[in-house]
Amino acid sequence: MKIAQFQKFGKPKEVIACVEAGEPGDPDADEVLIEIDAFPINPADLLTLSGNYACRPRLPATLGAEAVGRVVAAGSKVNNVSIGDAVIPLGRDNWVQRKKEKASRVIKLPEMDTFQAAMLKVNPATAWFMLSDHVELAEGDMLIQNAANSGVGLNLIALAESRGVKTINIVRRSDVIPLIKEEYGASEVLINGPDIIDQVADIVGDGILKLGIDAIGGDSTRILARCVEQDGIVVNYGLLAGKPCSIDPHDLVFRGVTLTGFWLSRVIEKIESEALENIYQELGALVNKGTLRVPVEKTYPLERIKIAVEHAGRPRRDGKILVLPNG
Ligand SMILES: NC(=O)c1ccc[n+]([C@@H]2O[C@H](COP(=O)([O-])OP(=O)(O)OC[C@H]3O[C@@H](n4cnc5c(N)ncnc54)[C@H](OP(=O)(O)O)[C@@H]3O)[C@@H](O)[C@H]2O)c1
Repeated sequence: MKIAQFQKFGKPKEVIACVEAGEPGDPDADEVLIEIDAFPINPADLLTLSGNYACRPRLPATLGAEAVGRVVAAGSKVNNVSIGDAVIPLGRDNWVQRKKEKASRVIKLPEMDTFQAAMLKVNPATAWFMLSDHVELAEGDMLIQNAANSGVGLNLIALAESRGVKTINIVRRSDVIPLIKEEYGASEVLINGPDIIDQVADIVGDGILKLGIDAIGGDSTRILARCVEQDGIVVNYGLLAGKPCSIDPHDLVFRGVTLTGFWLSRVIEKIESEALENIYQELGALVNKGTLRVPVEKTYPLERIKIAVEHAGRPRRDGKILVLPNG
């Protein structure tokens, strides 16, 4: 079978390769064998290839934060999934045609679109937890986020607006505004620029802006920290700028703003498996209702992983890049 593998850290498209590997073999009693249908290439995967992610696997390694596949064989003690079920493996080595996983480490999905299922584990769940875990948001409250046309950003808009929470969304190009406003129902979309803080203040008026969600770091963190109300919270979850989060001490000291971080992996490792299953069932149902969806720009076969990785690293994409390892 084929897998995507890298032998050293470096420029993602240069270090990744599609190689032949041995079949995983029959599953043990508590394992399932999964045939992978699709996986997205996420910024975290590109950071893993360049050696800049939280975890640096031992080389040579495969990778892949998420995927969707079907159970094609199950061990004798497996009772949570059956052959034919669509599942998300919770491991981070999913860029393969087939893999074994402990049955306790897979999430069974409802019937749903394969592409959206491939993107369910990371971005919708990240948006879900960031929306729920840091401040209580009531109907009519507001939040602000940057990189709003990203996968996480679109999921966050859809979830927030479906709960009556208004979203102020910062992007860096105007051509994504119709998508965000008309298709995702965002309350406000602004292009980043020198007067962004004043523009946000005009929109907020006497309203309450409790939460800032930052995918970028650098000066973008400072902007959100200035925009949120006194005692507001800014949650950084991404390093798109590749720079440390900047924050003005006036906001920290005199206005009591808190800057904190979020990493889905830490949440998934701590949460009870039943609670996690329930969240993914709910997220899957929201996909099936059409509330959650992320556009796909292009799909590639596994053999073209280098081009796929290069494509995923481009700015100004109109959606995610997906790989279909089994055609
Ligand atoms: N902490 C966690 O648990 C967690 C979970 C999921 C994702 N993330 C992080 O969340 C971020 C978004 O991930 P995703 O999968 O949603 O992304 P995505 O769908 O692949 O989209 C990438 C987005 O980043 C924007 N962007 C790229 N570089 C930028 C920069 N230097 N300044 C401003 N915007 C920039 C792009 O804007 P254009 O379209 O204008 O190019 C686009 O909106 C990534 O940093 C990812 O690592 C973290």
